[in-house]
Amino acid sequence: MKFYIKTFGCQMNENDSETMAGLLLKEGFTPASTPEEADVVIINTCAVRRKSEEKAYSELGQFLKLKRKKKLVVGVAGCVAEKERERLLERGADFVLGTRAVPKVVNVIKEVLRGKKVAFFEDHLDEYTHELPRIRSSKHHAWVTIIHGCDRFCTYCIVPYTRGREKSRPMEDILEEVRKLAKQGYREITFLGQNVDAYGKDLKDGSFLAKLLEETSKIEGIERIWFLTSYPTDFSDELIEVIAKNPKVAKSVHLPVQSGSNRILKLMNRKYTREEYLSLLEKIRSKVPDVSISSDIIVGFPTETEEDFMETVDLVEKAQFERLNLAIYSPREGTVAWKYYKDDVPHEEKVRRMQFLMNLQKRINRKLNERYRGKIVRVIVEARAKSGLFYGRDIRNKIIAFEGNDTMIGKFADIKVEKITAGPLYGKVVWIEEDVPSVASPDR
Ligand code: SAH
Ligand code: SF4
Ligand code: F3S
Repeated sequence: MKFYIKTFGCQMNENDSETMAGLLLKEGFTPASTPEEADVVIINTCAVRRKSEEKAYSELGQFLKLKRKKKLVVGVAGCVAEKERERLLERGADFVLGTRAVPKVVNVIKEVLRGKKVAFFEDHLDEYTHELPRIRSSKHHAWVTIIHGCDRFCTYCIVPYTRGREKSRPMEDILEEVRKLAKQGYREITFLGQNVDAYGKDLKDGSFLAKLLEETSKIEGIERIWFLTSYPTDFSDELIEVIAKNPKVAKSVHLPVQSGSNRILKLMNRKYTREEYLSLLEKIRSKVPDVSISSDIIVGFPTETEEDFMETVDLVEKAQFERLNLAIYSPREGTVAWKYYKDDVPHEEKVRRMQFLMNLQKRINRKLNERYRGKIVRVIVEARAKSGLFYGRDIRNKIIAFEGNDTMIGKFADIKVEKITAGPLYGKVVWIEEDVPSVASPDR
């Protein structure tokens, strides 16, 4: 039997898809390269904005169309599965799998193959361990989810409802997964969590992110360690210390601010002020001068005035982010903002605010990128881009494109930067690591 998984949303969803694929492969299923070839398709969905949800539904429609032409099992997993639940069965799906039920994907599919329709939402996160097989999309970089869920309940956000409460994986289990990855030739690890710097709080055994990063850096073969996403009030001094001192820990922090207006931050239930956020940036930069900080912002939150928006503009100017993800506020069913705040900023105004920030950020990127001109930067070669050029990232998460070949993937390379844009940098290879790191074998 062949399976095909279509993934939307965040890296955590990607990691869950890798796990579902691993479990299916172990059970004797084989990956299909197109849905047409598959016997089972799974849509791993995202519900963060209305648009993401619509994408899930349109994909479901496509697969249901295909199902009319051939025998096919269609399943929905991820955040829309949690949000919509049994309704998806009524829409024609054969199974719906909750975000905490990923380890049980095979059991659910087997039941469906016996002729049932299944909606399964039990919490099986205890089985989400290093022992689960995973088919990873990269052979040198691996996503590792270290904390599930979110306890923050920002008023606009659906994630706490779709992913449940924070639950950290035991540190030893994570380290075992990384040791296994290192043995297979993986060199870069990204630790994932919606609120990754809350890692360990619920374990009450003295585990915390800074310690996990230190321990991971001792594992031979692991060269770079990333982590996302951070929440400003959980960002500890110990964490800053490890970023500053440990050469394997990325000098890159993703620290969403969401708004620059204290009034809006309060309505969003973000537990900090703009002043506190900016002084955190100052503190991080004083300890890690070369750090790269990126962020997320929502424009057009209910009641956001021009004045509030200008506060956000001012914050973006002061913060000098290296990257900024902008989103237009989208009311999400069940959240506090959806229930109590009227979505009263006109759509055109939301779009204007987003474009304004986009242009501002472009100028900032262009200026910050100038610092790279003529420099030689060490990257790990990641992949070939659509343009045909290869690209890699330096330890600040800056993307640099260059002429290369497939044998370079996964290796360290030094790139002389020759061209600057507001987006990627362009350069040429001046050194490439010779020793081929042990080739990764599939994780079964
Ligand atoms: N845990 C992270 C982000 C999770 S969701 C954090 O605390 O920041 C990723 C991003 O989607 C958020 O940073 C936010 O900018 C955006 N987002 C979440 N809910 C949204 C909504 N209802 N409308 C628009 N954007 C939203
Ligand atoms: Fe959503 Fe806030 Fe949790 Fe991030 S911290 S996932 S924005 S509730
Ligand atoms: Fe989307 Fe769920 Fe991730 S809503 S962003 S897939 S946690």
